[in-house]
Parts: sequence; C-alpha cells; structure tokens
Amino acid sequence: MLEAQFEDASLFKKVIDSIKDSVKLCNFTCSQSDGIVVQAIDDSRVLLIALKIDNDCFQDFRCDKNLVLGLDLESLGKILKQGNNDDRLTLLAEDSPDNLTINFEDKNKDRISEFNLKLMDIDSDSLSIEDMDNDCSITMPSNDFAKIVRDMKILSESLQIIVTKDSIKFGAEGSIGAGKVILKPQTNIDKPEESVKINLNSPVNLTFGAKYLNDIVKATTLSNTVTIKLTDKAPALFEYSLPSGYLRFYLAPKFDDEE
Ligand SMILES: *[C@@H]1O[C@H](CO)[C@@H](O)[C@H](O)[C@H]1NC(C)=O
Ligand SMILES: *[C@@H]1O[C@H](CO)[C@@H](O)[C@H](O)[C@H]1NC(C)=O
Ligand SMILES: *[C@@H]1O[C@H](CO)[C@@H](O)[C@H](O)[C@H]1NC(C)=O
Repeated sequence: MLEAQFEDASLFKKVIDSIKDSVKLCNFTCSQSDGIVVQAIDDSRVLLIALKIDNDCFQDFRCDKNLVLGLDLESLGKILKQGNNDDRLTLLAEDSPDNLTINFEDKNKDRISEFNLKLMDIDSDSLSIEDMDNDCSITMPSNDFAKIVRDMKILSESLQIIVTKDSIKFGAEGSIGAGKVILKPQTNIDKPEESVKINLNSPVNLTFGAKYLNDIVKATTLSNTVTIKLTDKAPALFEYSLPSGYLRFYLAPKFDDEE
C-alpha cells in the first residue's frame, strides 16, 4: 500500500495548482525509491511536465509496491482546496487501487476530513525525456520571470528570449506596440536567490508561446528562483526546485513559419 504524509498540505496543493491548468489527466507513479514521479504532456503536445516529489518531502513515506495512480487533476485540485495549508495531508492507496484516499488533519483542532478520489485509466503514449546539452542556462528570481511573462503577454502571443554572454533580452511585439526587458547578470551576496546568472556556451534567440509561459509561471510559488535552459531549435527547460525534487516544464519553441 501507499501511505504518503506531508507535514503541511501546502506543498502538494501548490504543486497541483502549478500543473492542473497545463495537463488534465496524468499518471502519478509511486515507489519507495523515487517518491512520486509524474510525466505528462498537454493536449497540444507543446508543453511537457516532469515532476519529482522525493520521499524526503514527506514526513512519512511508505510504498510497498510500485503503484500507478491515474488522476484527474481538476478533481484533485478541488479536493485539495478542502484542506488548509497547515493541515497534515495523507495520501493513501491499496495495492491495486480504484481510488485514492486523501486525508486532512487539522493539527490544532483534532479535526480529520477524508475524501476518496476515483482513479482513471489514462491510456495515451508514455514518453521519455532525454537529458541533453544546452546552449545556455539562466537562473533568475522566479517572481521577476513571472512578472516579465505576464507583462509581455499583454502585447503579444509570443515572447522572444535572446541570450548573450552579458544580457538576457525578453521582447514582445504586437498590434498595440512592442516591449522589451533586458537583464544583466548580477550577484546579490546578501540575497543569493535574487541573483541573475547566465551560463553560456553559445548565444540563443528563441520565441515561445506566451500562453504556455503563462501556465508555467504558475509554479512561481514553489521556488524563489527559476532555472531556464535554452538550446537552439529545441525544447526549453524551465525548472522550479522543490525542497527535495523538482517541477520541470519542457516547452517547444515557435518556429518562423508558424508566426
Ligand atoms: C476505495 O478503494 C478501497 C480499496 O480498493 C475499497 O475498499 C473502497 O470501497 C473504495 N472506496 C470507494 C469510496 O470507492
Ligand atoms: C498510465 O499508466 C497505465 C497503467 O500503468 C498505462 O497503461 C498507461 O500507458 C499510462 N499512461 C501514460 C500516459 O503514461
Ligand atoms: C532573432 O530571430 C528573429 C526571428 O528569427 C530575427 O528576426 C531577429 O533578427 C533575431 N534577433 C537577433 C538579435 O538575433
């Protein structure tokens, strides 16, 4: 059986809120060695999500047998809203489950609430993600990235990202006008999470769909920083760290002939 307990419900609530607008149905693979792992692709097959909640994120984690839980994230999100952020949250499933039990425990009031969510069979292709070399890697405050994405979305459906060794330029151009934000690398010794770092092998000039980026930045609540790895003509990686594990988004760039 699976018995996975978070000391505070907030982490799992934030993780599900970060992905539920991008993918609707996905398999949660649970194992004693890897915790909870999810790989899913959005309907348009442009955005791919890879989530790993290591068992260190849990107060208690027990998974006797590897399990695949097919979950409807919209329904899961609705159930998770029933619990408070500081409730203790436990996920329970039998060895051949047809439902997932979700348990909230209010630590102060001794109130326990329990929900059962029906599991689904999700039969689409499984996918594999290869690790690859990147042309460049950027680390920056996740809030700043979210603000740029949201501000630029007002101008255009596309966001251009151009990285050279001494700057990152975000640009958008649409019918009402154009905008750009330029960031220079800087190190903040007192608050390292506010630094902007560029690691460059070769410069890149890529364009992404603003709608997808807008979904990606919903993960901003998970981490103070975001790491972005870009490669010419290849999917970009946007990574938010968990206390142990990660939430990664792989987004295919737009090509000239689509614009
Ligand atoms: C949930 O699954 C368990 C074990 O498979 C089963 O005993 C229980 O009746 C199910 N509960 C609901 C509400 O379907
Ligand atoms: C989800 O898991 C089921 C059961 O293991 C499997 O048959 C199916 O292919 C998986 N779907 C995806 C999208 O990985
Ligand atoms: C970036 O690419 C676009 C489209 O391919 C091109 O129009 C633009 O001139 C390029 N900008 C730079 C700075 O390379």
